[in-house]
Amino acid sequence: MSKLWQKDYSLDSLMEEFTVSNDYILDQQLVIADCLGSIAHARGLHHIGILDAEELASLEEGLKKIISLKMEDSFPITKENEDCHTAIEGFLTDEYGEVGKKIHTGRSRNDQVQTALRIWMREFTLKLCRATGELCETLLSFAEKYAEVPMPGRTHMQIAMPSSLGLWAASYAEELYDEAQHMMHLSWLFDQSPLGSAASYGVPLPLDRQFTAEQMGFTRVQNNVLYANNSRGKFEAILLDGCDYIALTLSKLAQDLILFTLPEFGYFSLPKELCTGSSIMPQKKNPDGLELARSRSSVVSSCAARVKSIIRSLPSGYNRDFQDTKEPLLAGTKATWQLVQIFGRMMDGLQ
Ligand code: ARG
Repeated sequence: MSKLWQKDYSLDSLMEEFTVSNDYILDQQLVIADCLGSIAHARGLHHIGILDAEELASLEEGLKKIISLKMEDSFPITKENEDCHTAIEGFLTDEYGEVGKKIHTGRSRNDQVQTALRIWMREFTLKLCRATGELCETLLSFAEKYAEVPMPGRTHMQIAMPSSLGLWAASYAEELYDEAQHMMHLSWLFDQSPLGSAASYGVPLPLDRQFTAEQMGFTRVQNNVLYANNSRGKFEAILLDGCDYIALTLSKLAQDLILFTLPEFGYFSLPKELCTGSSIMPQKKNPDGLELARSRSSVVSSCAARVKSIIRSLPSGYNRDFQDTKEPLLAGTKATWQLVQIFGRMMDGLQ
Protein backbone atom coordinates (compact mmCIF):
# COMPACT_ATOMS: atom_id res chain seq x y z
CA MET A 1 0.00 0.00 0.00
CA SER A 2 1.26 3.47 -0.79
CA LYS A 3 2.00 6.06 1.84
CA LEU A 4 -0.30 8.99 2.51
CA TRP A 5 2.43 11.22 1.16
CA GLN A 6 3.42 8.90 -1.71
CA LYS A 7 5.40 10.54 -4.56
CA ASP A 8 6.68 9.09 -7.85
CA TYR A 9 9.65 7.38 -6.15
CA SER A 10 10.21 4.86 -3.36
CA LEU A 11 11.81 5.88 -0.11
CA ASP A 12 15.32 4.49 0.41
CA SER A 13 14.88 1.31 2.44
CA LEU A 14 17.49 2.17 5.06
CA MET A 15 15.90 5.56 5.51
CA GLU A 16 12.49 3.93 5.78
CA GLU A 17 13.78 1.61 8.49
CA PHE A 18 15.29 4.57 10.30
CA THR A 19 12.32 6.92 10.08
CA VAL A 20 9.58 4.39 10.72
CA SER A 21 11.55 2.54 13.38
CA ASN A 22 9.10 0.80 15.74
CA ASP A 23 6.43 3.46 15.35
CA TYR A 24 4.14 1.15 13.39
CA ILE A 25 4.28 -1.38 16.23
CA LEU A 26 3.62 1.20 18.94
CA ASP A 27 0.74 2.54 16.85
CA GLN A 28 -1.24 -0.63 17.51
CA GLN A 29 -2.03 1.04 20.81
CA LEU A 30 -3.51 4.08 19.07
CA VAL A 31 -5.77 2.36 16.54
CA ILE A 32 -9.00 2.70 18.50
CA ALA A 33 -8.25 6.29 19.47
CA ASP A 34 -7.55 7.20 15.84
CA CYS A 35 -10.82 5.58 14.75
CA LEU A 36 -12.73 7.63 17.32
CA GLY A 37 -11.00 10.78 16.08
CA SER A 38 -11.70 9.78 12.49
CA ILE A 39 -15.39 9.24 13.18
CA ALA A 40 -15.51 12.74 14.69
CA HIS A 41 -13.68 14.18 11.69
CA ALA A 42 -15.98 12.41 9.21
CA ARG A 43 -19.02 13.74 11.08
CA GLY A 44 -17.42 17.17 10.98
CA LEU A 45 -16.97 16.94 7.20
CA HIS A 46 -20.60 15.90 6.83
CA HIS A 47 -21.65 18.73 9.14
CA ILE A 48 -20.12 21.31 6.75
CA GLY A 49 -21.38 19.58 3.60
CA ILE A 50 -18.14 17.97 2.37
CA LEU A 51 -19.39 14.39 2.84
CA ASP A 52 -22.94 13.29 2.06
CA ALA A 53 -24.95 11.06 4.39
CA GLU A 54 -24.10 7.92 2.47
CA GLU A 55 -20.37 8.64 2.52
CA LEU A 56 -20.49 9.33 6.23
CA ALA A 57 -22.36 6.07 6.84
CA SER A 58 -19.73 4.08 4.90
CA LEU A 59 -16.89 5.69 6.82
CA GLU A 60 -18.52 5.14 10.20
CA GLU A 61 -19.22 1.52 9.30
CA GLY A 62 -15.60 1.02 8.17
CA LEU A 63 -14.14 2.69 11.24
CA LYS A 64 -16.32 0.62 13.55
CA LYS A 65 -15.19 -2.47 11.64
CA ILE A 66 -11.59 -1.51 12.32
CA ILE A 67 -12.36 -1.07 16.02
CA SER A 68 -13.86 -4.60 16.09
CA LEU A 69 -10.85 -6.02 14.26
CA LYS A 70 -8.51 -4.29 16.67
CA MET A 71 -10.43 -5.70 19.62
CA GLU A 72 -9.77 -9.17 18.21
CA ASP A 73 -6.15 -8.17 17.76
CA SER A 74 -6.40 -8.55 14.01
CA PHE A 75 -5.85 -5.14 12.50
CA PRO A 76 -2.36 -5.25 10.95
CA ILE A 77 -0.15 -2.20 10.53
CA THR A 78 2.90 -2.84 8.36
CA LYS A 79 6.21 -1.03 8.21
CA GLU A 80 5.28 0.21 4.72
CA ASN A 81 2.14 1.76 6.22
CA GLU A 82 4.41 3.76 8.58
CA ASP A 83 1.65 4.31 11.11
CA CYS A 84 -1.90 3.50 12.14
CA HIS A 85 -3.25 6.57 10.35
CA THR A 86 -2.11 5.29 6.96
CA ALA A 87 -3.26 1.74 7.71
CA ILE A 88 -6.71 3.00 8.73
CA GLU A 89 -7.22 5.19 5.66
CA GLY A 90 -5.83 2.38 3.49
CA PHE A 91 -8.40 -0.04 4.91
CA LEU A 92 -11.22 2.44 4.27
CA THR A 93 -10.06 2.99 0.67
CA ASP A 94 -9.75 -0.76 0.02
CA GLU A 95 -13.20 -1.48 1.41
CA TYR A 96 -15.18 1.61 0.39
CA GLY A 97 -13.24 3.21 -2.48
CA GLU A 98 -12.72 6.95 -2.97
CA VAL A 99 -14.47 7.94 0.24
CA GLY A 100 -11.53 6.42 2.12
CA LYS A 101 -9.36 9.11 0.57
CA LYS A 102 -11.95 11.81 1.04
CA ILE A 103 -11.77 11.48 4.82
CA HIS A 104 -8.30 13.01 4.68
CA THR A 105 -9.87 16.30 3.52
CA GLY A 106 -8.93 19.06 5.92
CA ARG A 107 -6.65 17.00 8.10
CA SER A 108 -3.03 16.02 8.34
CA ARG A 109 -1.34 13.09 10.01
CA ASN A 110 0.10 15.48 12.57
CA ASP A 111 -3.43 16.41 13.47
CA GLN A 112 -4.45 12.76 13.59
CA VAL A 113 -1.61 11.65 15.79
CA GLN A 114 -2.23 14.54 18.18
CA THR A 115 -5.94 13.74 18.34
CA ALA A 116 -5.35 10.02 18.86
CA LEU A 117 -2.74 10.65 21.55
CA ARG A 118 -4.99 13.16 23.29
CA ILE A 119 -7.86 10.67 23.41
CA TRP A 120 -5.45 7.98 24.64
CA MET A 121 -3.92 10.21 27.32
CA ARG A 122 -7.28 11.45 28.53
CA GLU A 123 -8.46 7.87 28.99
CA PHE A 124 -5.25 6.70 30.59
CA THR A 125 -5.28 9.56 33.07
CA LEU A 126 -8.78 8.73 34.24
CA LYS A 127 -7.98 5.00 34.44
CA LEU A 128 -4.83 5.66 36.44
CA CYS A 129 -6.65 8.07 38.71
CA ARG A 130 -9.24 5.43 39.53
CA ALA A 131 -6.67 2.66 40.01
CA THR A 132 -4.60 4.88 42.31
CA GLY A 133 -7.75 5.68 44.26
CA GLU A 134 -8.39 1.95 44.66
CA LEU A 135 -4.87 1.44 45.93
CA CYS A 136 -5.53 4.17 48.51
CA GLU A 137 -8.58 2.25 49.69
CA THR A 138 -6.55 -0.95 50.02
CA LEU A 139 -3.93 0.91 52.03
CA LEU A 140 -6.59 2.51 54.20
CA SER A 141 -8.23 -0.80 55.04
CA PHE A 142 -4.81 -2.17 55.90
CA ALA A 143 -4.26 0.87 58.13
CA GLU A 144 -7.61 0.36 59.82
CA LYS A 145 -7.08 -3.35 60.34
CA TYR A 146 -3.73 -2.82 62.04
CA ALA A 147 -4.40 0.66 63.44
CA GLU A 148 -3.38 -0.26 66.97
CA VAL A 149 -0.37 -2.42 66.15
CA PRO A 150 2.72 -0.68 67.49
CA MET A 151 5.54 0.06 65.10
CA PRO A 152 8.72 1.98 65.78
CA GLY A 153 8.76 5.43 64.22
CA ARG A 154 12.17 6.02 62.69
CA THR A 155 14.14 9.09 61.66
CA HIS A 156 17.64 8.75 60.24
CA MET A 157 16.56 5.10 60.23
CA GLN A 158 17.14 5.09 63.98
CA ILE A 159 14.37 4.17 66.39
CA ALA A 160 12.79 7.53 67.21
CA MET A 161 9.33 7.36 68.78
CA PRO A 162 6.62 4.78 69.38
CA SER A 163 4.19 4.82 66.48
CA SER A 164 1.70 2.52 64.77
CA LEU A 165 1.26 0.44 61.68
CA GLY A 166 -1.92 2.44 61.09
CA LEU A 167 0.04 5.69 60.84
CA TRP A 168 2.55 4.12 58.48
CA ALA A 169 0.01 2.63 56.05
CA ALA A 170 -2.30 5.65 56.15
CA SER A 171 0.60 7.94 55.28
CA TYR A 172 0.97 6.18 51.94
CA ALA A 173 -2.79 6.22 51.40
CA GLU A 174 -2.89 9.98 51.94
CA GLU A 175 0.12 10.61 49.73
CA LEU A 176 -1.34 8.57 46.89
CA TYR A 177 -4.69 10.27 47.34
CA ASP A 178 -3.02 13.61 46.62
CA GLU A 179 -1.30 12.12 43.61
CA ALA A 180 -4.59 10.71 42.29
CA GLN A 181 -6.07 14.20 42.73
CA HIS A 182 -3.18 15.63 40.78
CA MET A 183 -3.91 13.14 37.97
CA MET A 184 -7.53 14.27 38.03
CA HIS A 185 -6.41 17.88 37.54
CA LEU A 186 -4.24 16.77 34.62
CA SER A 187 -7.22 15.16 32.95
CA TRP A 188 -8.67 18.67 32.66
CA LEU A 189 -5.60 19.77 30.69
CA PHE A 190 -5.99 16.86 28.29
CA ASP A 191 -9.67 17.59 27.85
CA GLN A 192 -9.17 19.88 24.81
CA SER A 193 -9.42 18.82 21.20
CA PRO A 194 -6.50 19.47 18.83
CA LEU A 195 -8.51 18.20 15.83
CA GLY A 196 -8.62 20.74 13.01
CA SER A 197 -5.16 22.10 13.73
CA ALA A 198 -3.86 20.18 10.68
CA ALA A 199 -0.11 20.22 10.07
CA SER A 200 0.31 23.12 12.54
CA TYR A 201 -1.36 26.00 10.74
CA GLY A 202 -5.00 25.02 10.30
CA VAL A 203 -6.76 24.62 6.94
CA PRO A 204 -8.68 26.98 4.65
CA LEU A 205 -11.96 25.13 5.22
CA PRO A 206 -14.75 26.12 7.58
CA LEU A 207 -14.17 23.11 9.89
CA ASP A 208 -16.39 23.29 12.96
CA ARG A 209 -13.83 22.42 15.62
CA GLN A 210 -16.28 22.79 18.51
CA PHE A 211 -18.61 20.29 16.82
CA THR A 212 -15.86 17.68 16.32
CA ALA A 213 -14.58 18.25 19.87
CA GLU A 214 -18.07 17.46 21.18
CA GLN A 215 -18.23 14.30 19.05
CA MET A 216 -15.19 13.04 20.93
CA GLY A 217 -16.50 14.14 24.31
CA PHE A 218 -13.97 16.94 24.77
CA THR A 219 -15.32 19.90 26.70
CA ARG A 220 -13.33 22.39 24.67
CA VAL A 221 -11.19 23.06 21.61
CA GLN A 222 -7.47 23.66 21.93
CA ASN A 223 -7.81 27.05 20.33
CA ASN A 224 -4.47 27.98 18.78
CA VAL A 225 -3.59 25.54 15.99
CA LEU A 226 0.15 26.06 16.37
CA TYR A 227 -0.06 25.52 20.12
CA ALA A 228 -2.10 22.37 19.43
CA ASN A 229 0.91 20.97 17.58
CA ASN A 230 3.50 22.42 19.93
CA SER A 231 1.81 20.72 22.87
CA ARG A 232 2.94 17.36 21.47
CA GLY A 233 5.53 15.99 23.83
CA LYS A 234 4.73 18.73 26.36
CA PHE A 235 1.48 17.10 27.44
CA GLU A 236 3.19 13.71 27.37
CA ALA A 237 5.88 15.04 29.71
CA ILE A 238 3.27 16.54 32.03
CA LEU A 239 1.46 13.21 32.20
CA LEU A 240 4.71 11.32 32.77
CA ASP A 241 5.71 13.75 35.52
CA GLY A 242 2.37 13.02 37.19
CA CYS A 243 3.09 9.31 36.82
CA ASP A 244 6.54 9.88 38.24
CA TYR A 245 5.14 11.19 41.54
CA ILE A 246 3.08 8.04 41.92
CA ALA A 247 6.08 5.89 41.00
CA LEU A 248 8.26 7.80 43.44
CA THR A 249 5.83 7.14 46.30
CA LEU A 250 5.62 3.48 45.38
CA SER A 251 9.39 3.19 45.19
CA LYS A 252 9.60 4.43 48.78
CA LEU A 253 6.89 1.99 49.80
CA ALA A 254 8.86 -0.78 48.05
CA GLN A 255 11.97 0.21 49.96
CA ASP A 256 10.11 0.17 53.30
CA LEU A 257 8.75 -3.28 52.55
CA ILE A 258 12.10 -4.65 51.43
CA LEU A 259 13.66 -3.43 54.64
CA PHE A 260 10.90 -4.33 57.05
CA THR A 261 10.50 -7.85 55.71
CA LEU A 262 14.16 -8.67 56.30
CA PRO A 263 14.40 -11.33 59.01
CA GLU A 264 16.43 -8.82 61.04
CA PHE A 265 13.35 -6.55 61.16
CA GLY A 266 10.59 -9.07 60.73
CA TYR A 267 7.74 -6.54 60.79
CA PHE A 268 6.03 -7.94 57.73
CA SER A 269 5.93 -11.03 55.66
CA LEU A 270 5.26 -10.77 51.92
CA PRO A 271 2.69 -12.98 50.23
CA LYS A 272 4.67 -15.90 48.83
CA GLU A 273 2.89 -15.74 45.46
CA LEU A 274 4.47 -12.36 44.97
CA CYS A 275 8.01 -13.48 45.76
CA THR A 276 10.54 -15.49 43.82
CA GLY A 277 13.01 -18.12 44.96
CA SER A 278 16.67 -18.75 44.43
CA SER A 279 18.09 -21.54 42.29
CA ILE A 280 20.96 -22.15 44.69
CA MET A 281 19.66 -21.11 48.14
CA PRO A 282 16.34 -22.84 48.85
CA GLN A 283 15.70 -20.82 52.03
CA LYS A 284 15.37 -17.60 50.02
CA LYS A 285 12.14 -15.67 49.53
CA ASN A 286 13.18 -12.81 47.34
CA PRO A 287 11.27 -9.54 46.91
CA ASP A 288 12.19 -9.23 43.21
CA GLY A 289 8.92 -7.46 42.47
CA LEU A 290 9.67 -4.76 45.01
CA GLU A 291 13.20 -4.33 43.77
CA LEU A 292 11.91 -3.97 40.22
CA ALA A 293 9.34 -1.50 41.53
CA ARG A 294 12.25 0.68 42.63
CA SER A 295 13.94 0.41 39.24
CA ARG A 296 10.70 0.86 37.27
CA SER A 297 10.14 4.01 39.19
CA SER A 298 13.35 5.36 37.68
CA VAL A 299 12.19 4.14 34.27
CA VAL A 300 9.11 6.36 34.63
CA SER A 301 11.25 9.27 35.70
CA SER A 302 13.66 8.79 32.82
CA CYS A 303 10.77 8.58 30.33
CA ALA A 304 9.60 12.00 31.49
CA ALA A 305 13.14 13.35 31.16
CA ARG A 306 13.55 11.76 27.72
CA VAL A 307 10.42 13.39 26.35
CA LYS A 308 11.46 16.79 27.70
CA SER A 309 14.92 16.54 26.27
CA ILE A 310 13.52 15.56 22.84
CA ILE A 311 11.25 18.61 22.66
CA ARG A 312 13.38 21.14 24.52
CA SER A 313 15.24 22.61 21.53
CA LEU A 314 12.66 22.13 18.79
CA PRO A 315 11.52 25.09 16.78
CA SER A 316 7.76 25.64 16.78
CA GLY A 317 5.51 23.68 14.43
CA TYR A 318 5.59 19.96 13.75
CA ASN A 319 9.00 18.28 13.67
CA ARG A 320 9.47 14.56 13.14
CA ASP A 321 11.36 14.40 16.45
CA PHE A 322 7.94 14.25 18.06
CA GLN A 323 7.57 10.68 16.90
CA ASP A 324 10.24 9.62 19.38
CA THR A 325 8.19 10.88 22.31
CA LYS A 326 5.67 8.10 21.72
CA GLU A 327 7.81 5.27 23.02
CA PRO A 328 8.63 6.90 26.39
CA LEU A 329 4.99 7.90 26.76
CA LEU A 330 3.82 4.32 26.29
CA ALA A 331 6.66 2.79 28.32
CA GLY A 332 6.40 5.20 31.25
CA THR A 333 2.62 5.01 31.52
CA LYS A 334 2.68 1.20 31.27
CA ALA A 335 5.26 0.95 34.04
CA THR A 336 3.16 3.23 36.26
CA TRP A 337 0.02 1.26 35.55
CA GLN A 338 1.75 -2.00 36.47
CA LEU A 339 3.23 -0.50 39.64
CA VAL A 340 -0.18 0.57 40.88
CA GLN A 341 -1.62 -2.89 40.14
CA ILE A 342 1.25 -4.75 41.77
CA PHE A 343 1.05 -2.74 44.99
CA GLY A 344 -2.67 -3.42 45.22
CA ARG A 345 -1.84 -7.14 45.28
CA MET A 346 1.06 -6.63 47.63
CA MET A 347 -0.95 -4.71 50.23
CA ASP A 348 -3.84 -7.15 49.94
CA GLY A 349 -1.65 -10.09 50.84
CA LEU A 350 0.82 -8.45 53.23
CA GLN A 351 0.96 -10.19 56.61
N1 ARG B 1 4.52 8.83 12.92
C1 ARG B 1 4.50 10.25 12.77
C2 ARG B 1 4.56 10.90 14.16
O1 ARG B 1 4.32 10.24 15.12
C3 ARG B 1 3.25 10.60 12.08
C4 ARG B 1 3.25 11.99 11.55
C5 ARG B 1 4.12 12.12 10.37
N2 ARG B 1 4.03 13.45 9.88
C6 ARG B 1 4.98 13.98 9.07
N3 ARG B 1 4.82 15.21 8.74
N4 ARG B 1 6.01 13.30 8.67
O2 ARG B 1 4.88 12.03 14.28
